[in-house]
Amino acid sequence: MADGPASTRAVYPGSFDPPTNGHLDVIERAARCFGELIVAVVVNPQKRDPMFDLQAREQMLSECVAHLPNVRVENFRGLLADYVKAQKADVIVKGLRVVSDFESEMSTALMNRALSSVDTMFLMSDQKYSFVSSSMVKEVFFLGGEVAALVPEPVLRVMAARRSSLNAS
Ligand code: PNS
Repeated sequence: MADGPASTRAVYPGSFDPPTNGHLDVIERAARCFGELIVAVVVNPQKRDPMFDLQAREQMLSECVAHLPNVRVENFRGLLADYVKAQKADVIVKGLRVVSDFESEMSTALMNRALSSVDTMFLMSDQKYSFVSSSMVKEVFFLGGEVAALVPEPVLRVMAARRSSLNAS
C-alpha cells in the first residue's frame, strides 16, 4: 500500500464512448489528487453497439490527457477488480454528476471492494457538466445537433470526421 497521495496509483475506469468534457474534468481533478492516474477504457457489456472501438477511445483520451504528465490511458477487458489488482492500484476513481448517479455507483463500489479490497473515491465534476453524458452526446450528434461545447477538441475532431463520412454515405 502506498503511503500518501503522491505515491498513490489511481484507476479511473469507464466506457468513454465518447470521452466528454465532464470526463476530462474528473481526470484533471484526479490527476491533482493522486501521484499516478491510469484512465482505463473498458468494454461495458451492458452498453451494446459502441460508437467507437476501444482503440479509438483510447487514442482520443490519450490526446485529451497529453498535458497531464502523471496520467496514462490503457484499455482492458474483464473485471475491474482483477485489473486494479494486476495494476497494484490503491484506489478506483469514479465521477459523480448528480445524486442519482450515487445509487448504482455505491453498489458497484462495494462489489469492487469485496472482489479486490480496493476502495472507490468519488469526485464531482464541475456543475456545468452535470447534464453531460456520453449517451446524450451521441444522441445529439446522431440527430444532427451541435456537440462542440460538450467534448474535448480531439474528440470533436474525430466526431466531425465521422459526421463527414456519414454525410457522404
Ligand atoms: O462509463 P461507464 O460505462 O459508466 O463505466 C462502467 C464501467 C466500465 C466502469 C463498469 O461497467 C466496469 O467496471 N466494467 C468492467 C466489468 C466489471 O468489473 N463489472 C463488475 C462491476 S461491479
